[in-house]
Amino acid sequence: MIDLRSDVKALPSPQMLQAMIGAELGDDVFGEDPTINALQARCAELTGKQAALFVTSGTQGNLVSVYALIEPGEELICHELAHIYHHERGGMAAVCGALVRPLPGHYGMLDLDMLADTLTAGDLHRQRTGVVTLENTHNACGGTALTAQQTAAVAELAHHYGVPVHLDAARIFNAAAALGVAVAELVEPVDTLTLCFSKGLGAPAGSMVCGPADFIEKAQLARKLFGGGMRQVGILGAAAMWALEHNVPKLPDDHRRARQIAETLAELPGIDVDLDSVQTNMVYFLVNREDINAPQLCDRLAEYEVKATARDERKIRFVTHVDVTDQDAETVCTALREILT
Ligand SMILES: Cc1ncc(COP(=O)(O)O)c(C=O)c1O
Repeated sequence: MIDLRSDVKALPSPQMLQAMIGAELGDDVFGEDPTINALQARCAELTGKQAALFVTSGTQGNLVSVYALIEPGEELICHELAHIYHHERGGMAAVCGALVRPLPGHYGMLDLDMLADTLTAGDLHRQRTGVVTLENTHNACGGTALTAQQTAAVAELAHHYGVPVHLDAARIFNAAAALGVAVAELVEPVDTLTLCFSKGLGAPAGSMVCGPADFIEKAQLARKLFGGGMRQVGILGAAAMWALEHNVPKLPDDHRRARQIAETLAELPGIDVDLDSVQTNMVYFLVNREDINAPQLCDRLAEYEVKATARDERKIRFVTHVDVTDQDAETVCTALREILT
């Protein structure tokens, strides 16, 4: 099957599994796993931050980060379609005690005027803003990439109020590949971030929280609190390290294939796709037809060995990843043409 449901579906390759088998291991709860230590050092270097902490997932990374950054009751400003707002079980409120303030914005960027109006140092009545969060790439906005300049504009405003910026950088390597800049440059304006190894990078699990050393110390305590301390976890660290070396360079191919599928869709009757939003490995589109709706199109695609799920009656998201080849992209395009013309 060609699985376009998400990049999290990518499986570890035989070479990645081999690297996992060969990993040097130790007890990471005591900081004794050499593979994790090397991975944390590498990620700190790649992101230009002081320190890094391996965590189980993107959700845990965001939770640990916000927990370490704010006091309960403080406001957390995020995009209205942010993953941390919609898809992380309300952890920002339930666990961190954040008063979440979603704001609108184009392609994942926050509206700067609204941000300026919303940021607050607090007073007798109103809680202060504790953190501003961004997401790069922005999943629900189409996998769109925020530039370093956009991120800096948000950070400048937040920092004016002494408020830190946390970046949900689950797909930051996709953003860097799309924009042709280094990850460190893209994340330079933010204080803290969570990046993921188990999305487009194809590792089976694991994320990394990066930021200043004192923040990482707090994040480590939070990770323990949330049950995220793992022992010989270098077995996952080795997969992540392998992915950084071998799968990051393949991301432009994933983007090219997503583009090819999006351009095919754009030519088909009754299909609405915003080509400007197709900047990385995601293609969101609407099925506006009498004869077929989004779930029915997914059922028809299954006949061509293509797995996709509808997000509602009209909307579908395709995501390319390391397991989707050039030939697979051709198969998807052929299937779409046959079904929809
Ligand atoms: C933008 C974004 N952030 C965070 C996450 C959460 O990652 P995880 O599934 O590893 O918890 C996801 C998951 O898809 C995501 O798309």
